[in-house]
Amino acid sequence: MKERIRKAKMLDVKEIHDLIDYYASRREMLPRPLQEIYEFLRDFWVYEVNSKIVGVCALHFAWENLAEIRSLAVFPEYQEMGIGKKLVQQCIEDAKEYQLKRIFALTYHPDFFARLGFKKIDKKILPHKIWADCLKCPLFPDCNEEAMMLECENNGKGKNY
Ligand SMILES: CC(C)(COP(=O)(O)OP(=O)(O)OC[C@H]1O[C@@H](n2cnc3c(N)ncnc32)[C@H](O)[C@@H]1OP(=O)(O)O)[C@@H](O)C(=O)NCCC(=O)NCCS
Repeated sequence: MKERIRKAKMLDVKEIHDLIDYYASRREMLPRPLQEIYEFLRDFWVYEVNSKIVGVCALHFAWENLAEIRSLAVFPEYQEMGIGKKLVQQCIEDAKEYQLKRIFALTYHPDFFARLGFKKIDKKILPHKIWADCLKCPLFPDCNEEAMMLECENNGKGKNY
């Protein structure tokens, strides 16, 4: 099995969209229209197995010191193989490269993020601009996603997660 993690490219967009849509159609994650994936393609990392994209994750800059992990998804048949973890770790490395100190995620799987060092926070401390996405969600305003935050103090000086 040939597998690798890499930055997304233009020709990946439809596959990324299909993967996100698989879960969005089940109301497990926020849908992302093709236009948004094109626009924010530089945020995305993909996980390939034998040239097929089986996992995806994006790191989106929110503020001077804050980034968001979003659109994290791994196809069911590839779950529990460490792919989600590798994608998040890659985004954490990316955030550190850009000297970002805090990374948050809004998630129905807080325990997955807790294993990676994220701590539960009150959603209200996040900047108002992040709620722009929530307004597009079919579950708004009755969603019970948890907000999780990782503080990465040692930017560029090794792992602390
Ligand atoms: C959440 C998700 C990305 C996890 O991906 P994955 O590739 O199965 O996760 P991994 O195999 O890398 O798991 C890493 C660790 O977290 C654990 N884990 C995986 N999913 C978990 C969950 N939902 N809750 C708690 N722990 C979880 C694994 O057992 C593993 O533990 P270990 O390090 O002790 O072995 C995947 O379940 C998914 O795509 N879910 C549907 C889409 C979704 O909800 N995305 C939004 C996330 S914000």
